Amino acid sequence: MSRKKITIVGAGNVGATAAHWAATKELGDIVLVDIIDGISQGKALDLAEAAPIDGFDSRIIGTNGYEETEGSDIVIITSGLARKPGMSREDLLQKNKEIIQSVTEQVVAKSPHCFIIMVSNPLDTMTYLALKASGFSKNRVMGMAGILDAARFQTFIAVELGVSVQDIQAMLLGGHGDDMVPLPRYSTVSGIPVTELLSQEQIERLVERTRKAGGEIVGLLKTGSAFYSPSAGAVAMAEAILKDTKRILPCCVYLKGEYGLTDICFGVPVKLGAGGVEEIVELRLNATEKEAVRRSAEGVKKSIDALGAL
Ligand code: 2OP
Repeated sequence: MSRKKITIVGAGNVGATAAHWAATKELGDIVLVDIIDGISQGKALDLAEAAPIDGFDSRIIGTNGYEETEGSDIVIITSGLARKPGMSREDLLQKNKEIIQSVTEQVVAKSPHCFIIMVSNPLDTMTYLALKASGFSKNRVMGMAGILDAARFQTFIAVELGVSVQDIQAMLLGGHGDDMVPLPRYSTVSGIPVTELLSQEQIERLVERTRKAGGEIVGLLKTGSAFYSPSAGAVAMAEAILKDTKRILPCCVYLKGEYGLTDICFGVPVKLGAGGVEEIVELRLNATEKEAVRRSAEGVKKSIDALGAL
């Protein structure tokens, strides 16, 4: 089996940490790309020099161009600006639009058969943009948000109950914004629905904290946004594709009628394997959940419309 190749565009906190997770998991060889000279090279070299200590066997290089990205199996895009306190993810739209369009075109020129995992914000809109700019089929372009948002919900449930995060499963739908839709009815602790273990008041509090969890980190860091958990989410998606595990994970994908939504990139549970997004799982929702999904989709649609003509 030939070695897999993973390109990570953007060597900021998210990109560099994604390189770290991917390298320690030995998912393949890694090319870290950044426009700022020295950043990607320096971080790649530093990470490569950690390999003998930790014993991982990934080749890692840093570069400023796309030559070395040729023939990548997976490309994780983290480029663009991150939020500062007081900003919403939507405030990044116009600046990141130009960056993501240009990055996607350059990625695709060198790796016409890759899968693209988008991490830049506003996530759903940037995933849509990358899908259109790439000309790829919808199974090959996806955004990382649901895994992160569900992980935050899982973390808060674990802390509330004083139990291990390992036993917690959480499901979540919707756009990666404050209108996201955590689904307590589909979230469990060792198979026990959280609705059996937590009061309505507790659940509502945890749902609300999950919705605002990205902003909570921005408020604490002040100079940027979360990176350990977003990069771990992106690498989990890469791993499911590269190892063909067929995991069911909430991801941002293009919908064509599923959940009653069309021509939108939106967070839903999907099956991830060697074919990328191999299946979209449609959950049965009650009236309240449906209404929450509708509201979230409305916001994402508005954001996609703000992209203008592509
Ligand atoms: C977050 O939710 C940065 O959007 C990312 O933390």
